[in-house]
Formats: sequence, structure tokens, C-alpha cells
Amino acid sequence: SGSGLPLMVQRTLAKQVTLIERIGKGRYGEVWRGSWYADSVAVKIFFSRDEASWRRETEIYSTVLLRHDNILAYVGSDMTSRNSCTQLWLITHFHPLGSLYEHLSRTTLTRHQMMVICLSIVNGLLHLHTDIHGTQGKPAIAHRDIKSKNILVKVNGECCIADLGLAVTRHHVSAGLMHNPRQGTKRYMSPEMLDQSMNLQSFDCYRKCDIYAFGLVLWEVVRRVCPAAEHRPPFYELVGHDPSFEDMRKIVCVEGARPEPPVDSNPTMVFMAAIMRECWHQNASVRLPALRIKKTLLKLAANDNA
Ligand code: ADE
Repeated sequence: SGSGLPLMVQRTLAKQVTLIERIGKGRYGEVWRGSWYADSVAVKIFFSRDEASWRRETEIYSTVLLRHDNILAYVGSDMTSRNSCTQLWLITHFHPLGSLYEHLSRTTLTRHQMMVICLSIVNGLLHLHTDIHGTQGKPAIAHRDIKSKNILVKVNGECCIADLGLAVTRHHVSAGLMHNPRQGTKRYMSPEMLDQSMNLQSFDCYRKCDIYAFGLVLWEVVRRVCPAAEHRPPFYELVGHDPSFEDMRKIVCVEGARPEPPVDSNPTMVFMAAIMRECWHQNASVRLPALRIKKTLLKLAANDNA
């Protein structure tokens, strides 16, 4: 097609969806709960200035078979015109508990709940990061905006990873197809992104950035295990609400600041602190790959009988 839209974009899907209530609003646009025949769905409505994110997310979901318990499930995309205004919709499964950020703000966790959350996120990340060959295969994908607001909590206690608007496949990186003016969230940016020393041609470097951000998410989750501290975004005490790139570069690169893992003598909690430190290490080459984190967490979960 001349517009360059992926073939699977359905221009009629929006007509079958009823928007019910707005559940989120931000720099990206809005999220609504809606209904699609008998199903509850979530509809993300993008600002037209962020068309690149809608296009990338639509492209990835329609060209890569991404069905995994820990990746937000896709229903479809739609581009419609309303009073000469382009509307970009991304329709997915709906999760009534909302984002991990909201969940952690509301509730404390048992060690078991913590483990289910952490293992399910790393499972989703591992699936994204892995090249799978064959007819049901997929290229390795780096997410590039891992944070607690981009992770949803399912009613079974597991999480799924959402927002593929900045994601890149191994193929995008090797072909230099990266043109999205949007950047990742500054608060979760790795030191090598902040000091601009990262090799932008290396796919593996993007995976290492995801692992750094995942380490910060682990800290947010582990803090909420009883006796819990209040939920805080990482680095909140140092940079407050809306840090600039320069604020973040100063604390993360120059001062080497990292969050303080909670002090808890329980062996599982001591181990969790060690894992997050290995994820957010200044030296990207020593950060743990998702598969290693998964194996370590599985072993920890099996040994923790509480
Ligand atoms: N917030 C953002 N996306 C959502 C979804 N799919 N379900 C519930 N809340 C959300």
C-alpha cells in the first residue's frame, strides 16, 4: 500500500469498539477501557505527534508473532480520521489491576507475590530478547522503555510487558531503521545512554539498557515486601518529579548514584539486592542476561518456603 502501513492494520476495528472510560492520560496520549464484542479491551490513543511510536508498535505486533503470557496481548491497530484529525489507536487486552506502578502504590507484597512479579517480568523480557528460529520464530527485540508504568499486573499476580513503541528488532538495528524522535524515560536511562558513550549500532547494547532499567524495577518491587517502605520511583529523593537529561547524567554517571536496596536479613532478600546490583552495574558488559536472571530467580523461589 502507498501509505506504507502494515497490511494488518484494520481500518474498521475502531468502529467495532465502544470506549467506556478513560483510565490513563500522559505525554503519550490516553488509554481507555472499551468493549470489543464480549471482551474488555484497552485502547491506547496516541497523540498524532507520536505517530512513530504507533507505527513501530503496530509493525512489531503485526510482523512478529508475539503471543506470550508475559507480553501484553494485541488485538489490532486502527487509523481513522475524525473532523480532519488523524486518530491512532492500539487495541490490546485489558488488565483491571492496571500498571505495576499503580499496583505498588496501592499494595504491599509477600515474598511469594514479589517472586511471581519478578519472575514473570523476566520471562517476558527473556522472550523479547531471544531470537527464535523457524516458522513460529521471532527476531530478538529490545524494548527501550522498561519501567513500572509500562508493565501491567494480571489478576493471577503475574505481569506482562506493554508499550513496544520504542522497541527495536535486531534487524532494525543492523539496517539502521531507528527513526523515532521519542526517547526512553530519562529516569530509567542507563549510564551509557546518559553520557552518550553507547554504541548505537550494536543490538546487544540496547538489551543491556533494558537490563539496567529492569534492575530499577526490581528495586521498586522488592521495596514493597513487608515490612514495606512507601512506593517511590527510582532516584526520587535525588531528582524529584520530572528530571532533565542533565540531572540524570549528573547523578547516574558522575556521582554513580543507585537506589539503596532495602536492608533485610532474609536470604532471599539479600539475594534480590545482589541481583539488582548486577543489573544496574555501571559496566554494561557485566550486567546479567535475562536468561541468567531467570535461572537465578527460579532457584531462589524453589529454596524460599515462606
Ligand atoms: N493501562 C495501560 N494499558 C492498560 C491495559 N492494557 N489494561 C489496563 N490498564 C492499562
